[in-house]
Amino acid sequence: MKKLLTLFEDYLLNNLPQSKTFHPYFEKALGDMLKAGGKRFRPMLLLSVIKSNKPLLLQNALPVALGLEMLHTYSLIHDDLPAMDNADLRRGFQTLHKKYDEVTAILVGDALNTEAFNQIVNAPLHNDIKVELVKTLATNGGIDGMIIGQAIDCFFENQKLELSQLEFLHIHKTAKLIAASLKMGAIISEYDLDTQEKLFNFGIDIGLLFQIQDDIIDETQTSQEAGKTTQNDEAKNSFVNLLGLDGATKAADELASKCENSLNQLDEKLKESLSELLLKYIYRHKS
Ligand code: IPE
Ligand code: IPE
Ligand code: MG
Ligand code: MG
Ligand code: MG
Repeated sequence: MKKLLTLFEDYLLNNLPQSKTFHPYFEKALGDMLKAGGKRFRPMLLLSVIKSNKPLLLQNALPVALGLEMLHTYSLIHDDLPAMDNADLRRGFQTLHKKYDEVTAILVGDALNTEAFNQIVNAPLHNDIKVELVKTLATNGGIDGMIIGQAIDCFFENQKLELSQLEFLHIHKTAKLIAASLKMGAIISEYDLDTQEKLFNFGIDIGLLFQIQDDIIDETQTSQEAGKTTQNDEAKNSFVNLLGLDGATKAADELASKCENSLNQLDEKLKESLSELLLKYIYRHKS
């Protein structure tokens, strides 16, 4: 069997969003950020869960994995806009509003957001499964997830939040979409509701850890190393700003141990399938 990442990358390249019109560059811009790469963490989480008990469904799940990556990529394109984080570099390339113009970046984001759901509803899976997938992605990537997190992140720039509010912000901005990725894998491979919930809750911890590490990267890496604009969190309620670099690292260490314990408590097949991917991420602030 091909490696999951290769499976995903091949599918992505063959299924880039397309529309052919007389616009001089919009069609190209639509695919730029998807092609640019990125870690593909969310689709890999989804596919790893499926691999654990329904490997034969991997192929049918690829449109869902792509939809997830599209929604995430849209969130990055909008996150970089001048009105939000105002960043020039993303995934090793110029951000779309820099390379083209703001209108293009806004509309490519909009297009990837809607196309994400189009991918899911057109996947060769049962309709009742697809309804659950759409619900999960819409909730966690939308009003009750990433969007409210981003709204709070931007509104409270230069205003210090309490630690509990900081957690709320980052759980919504980042962790819920990561948790949804695991849950969507569990929905496709028809794990029972208890397992779905367990994976979702595990994903919240993994997602929170992922954001603490991301805040550490903003502080410690150059833009070139990170492939995106760094030293950009000055006004933000980042973990580094609130806890200091040492405090954020300690928080990441603690959460990393908690995540490793939870990983070890998953059923054998899930543990095996997720370990390969997750151990690398759980300790990425150490490397
Ligand atoms: C960056 O996400 C934004 C956060 C939620 C921290 P990733 O670090 O997954 O970005 P890519 O997909 O690898 O570019
Ligand atoms: C963004 O968080 C999270 C999203 C929902 C896109 P950041 O603003 O910290 O992400 P980076 O550092 O720009 O990738
Ligand atoms: Mg941001
Ligand atoms: Mg940003
Ligand atoms: Mg960041």
